[in-house]
Amino acid sequence: MLNIALPKGRLGEKVYSMFEKAGFACPSIRENSRKLIFENPEKGVRYFWVKPSDVAIYVERGAADIGVAGKDILLEYAPDVYELFDLDIGKCRMAVAAMRGFRDDPRKTLRVATKFTNITKNYYASRGRDIDIIHLNGSIEIAPILGLSDVIADIVETGTTLKENNLEVIETIVPISARLIANKAGFKFKSRQIETLTAALAADGGKND
Ligand code: PRP
Repeated sequence: MLNIALPKGRLGEKVYSMFEKAGFACPSIRENSRKLIFENPEKGVRYFWVKPSDVAIYVERGAADIGVAGKDILLEYAPDVYELFDLDIGKCRMAVAAMRGFRDDPRKTLRVATKFTNITKNYYASRGRDIDIIHLNGSIEIAPILGLSDVIADIVETGTTLKENNLEVIETIVPISARLIANKAGFKFKSRQIETLTAALAADGGKND
């Protein structure tokens, strides 16, 4: 049985459709229910829905053999997993944004609000910029409006949230997309199934890493 952790939500549904097309169907997953685990013994697959930010934890600890996680989560938490494949979906970018017209004063410590403290620290360290990190759990856009921070570092997809809050991107940190990841030990034991899957996904237009 190949255990697959899917990120709950719209992205996960897209991912399941890709896996289904690749020959790893599990029809019961399409039935509307609150169930979280679905298996198809014929195809040798078991899927489970988990919170997107938890996929890498299941895979790193071997509760799942493979899973799909955003590059943002992989960069932020650096889980000890193989990153096999860029699925080329769930595309967005990690960016620094500020209130329209904001001017950075390089002599002052920059106050940055973010959920992604490691990505942010690494980004500013590489530029030799002194910052004060303010860790928040969501609705980051409010921080500069209320004067809690000078800028934010956050995910930007359509840009609508920034626009509607009078903010704008000032720098892009890194482009983000969904990645297929594998548990390191599981990859050895189940390499045939996993390689069949990645080959089928690649034939369908993704990118091999
Ligand atoms: C994410 C991100 C932005 C928004 C960007 O938030 O933190 O707020 O999406 O998308 P857009 O560019 O298409 O507007 P999410 O919905 O995950 O909620 P959060 O406030 O909990 O971070």
